[in-house]
Amino acid sequence: MRRERSSASSVLVTGGAGYIGSHTVKALLEAGYDVVVFDDLSRGHPEFIQGVPLVIGELSDERALSDVFTEWKFDAVLHFASESLVGESMRNPDKYFRRNVAGGISLLSSMVRAGVKKIVFSSSAAVYGDPESVPIPETAPLRPLSPYGESKVFFERALLWYDKAYGLRSVSLRYFNAAGADPSGRLGEEHDPETHLIPLVIRAALTGEPITVFGDDYPTPDGTCVRDYIHVSDLAEAHVLALKALSEGLETTALNLGTGAGFSVLEIIKAVEEVSGKKVPYLIGERRPGDPAILVAQCARAREVLGWSPSHSSLREIVETAWRWHSREG
Ligand SMILES: NC(=O)c1ccc[n+]([C@@H]2O[C@H](COP(=O)([O-])OP(=O)(O)OC[C@H]3O[C@@H](n4cnc5c(N)ncnc54)[C@H](O)[C@@H]3O)[C@@H](O)[C@H]2O)c1
Repeated sequence: MRRERSSASSVLVTGGAGYIGSHTVKALLEAGYDVVVFDDLSRGHPEFIQGVPLVIGELSDERALSDVFTEWKFDAVLHFASESLVGESMRNPDKYFRRNVAGGISLLSSMVRAGVKKIVFSSSAAVYGDPESVPIPETAPLRPLSPYGESKVFFERALLWYDKAYGLRSVSLRYFNAAGADPSGRLGEEHDPETHLIPLVIRAALTGEPITVFGDDYPTPDGTCVRDYIHVSDLAEAHVLALKALSEGLETTALNLGTGAGFSVLEIIKAVEEVSGKKVPYLIGERRPGDPAILVAQCARAREVLGWSPSHSSLREIVETAWRWHSREG
């Protein structure tokens, strides 16, 4: 039997117990949406989504998904659930194609069967690989360098065909480097293993254990890699705007989400030292294969199409909120 919910728009959030998903769940609730989370908790934190209905299940479990779509009626899906460790994907592509690609298709099949025709997908700057030029526009060639990036390209392409055949409209949001934490201090980044730079630099500040900087001979001003850091609360806001735009008839599209400004690894270390008042010990190591020198988004389209612009993504605010989260008690 289908559960009756209030008259607000209802959305299913896959991977909603994860880092970006949980911040988006908060923004959706604040915007008045009814939310149900579907997550297998392989990397999620149920305490981040207290009070929100949580269905524990794996994407490729079609039975579990079908039960969710039978039990609730949704206007749209936000699809965050994914394996996202680039290095692991190089060693174990099978996991990435099964869980991200096969699992994602099983989600789309369930949506088609249930007649749900709007989806916002968590894509990634990894779709571009090593870009020919920066800042990177959405029209740049998609040449991923890992099975992880390939799984994102595959799903974006599948979405184009699901639109043509079944009228399922989508927005693929290509995030650059998600960072920072909710200003309340209640939510933050909690990956295990952690591979993202800002939490690793903060850990080095807290423990005194040195962090390795992978290469200082890149063609960048200080020789270390440059990335575009976008605050997780700004990403969350973009999802709310994307849902609204789809409801107003937006056609299937892909949009970069970044700030258009890049910071080097050494600039991040300096920012953490300034915010924390602690020294960050570091060593210079070898370059990592497949790490482009500079990844910075061209983000005019997200502004034009969604009316979105980041308001929490100064490096200072990103590092301050991340520092507050990682240095909290308990
Ligand atoms: N964090 C970033 O900087 C970044 C950058 C670009 C893209 N992305 C993408 O954004 C999305 C969210 O990233 P995140 O950092 O919040 O990741 P996360 O690992 O914190 O969250 C992912 C959530 O999905 C769940 N999950 C994973 N596979 C699942 C499956 N097969 N079935 C059910 N649940 C599953 C996990 O338990 C977890 O709660 C991912 O799709 C990721 O690839 C992240």
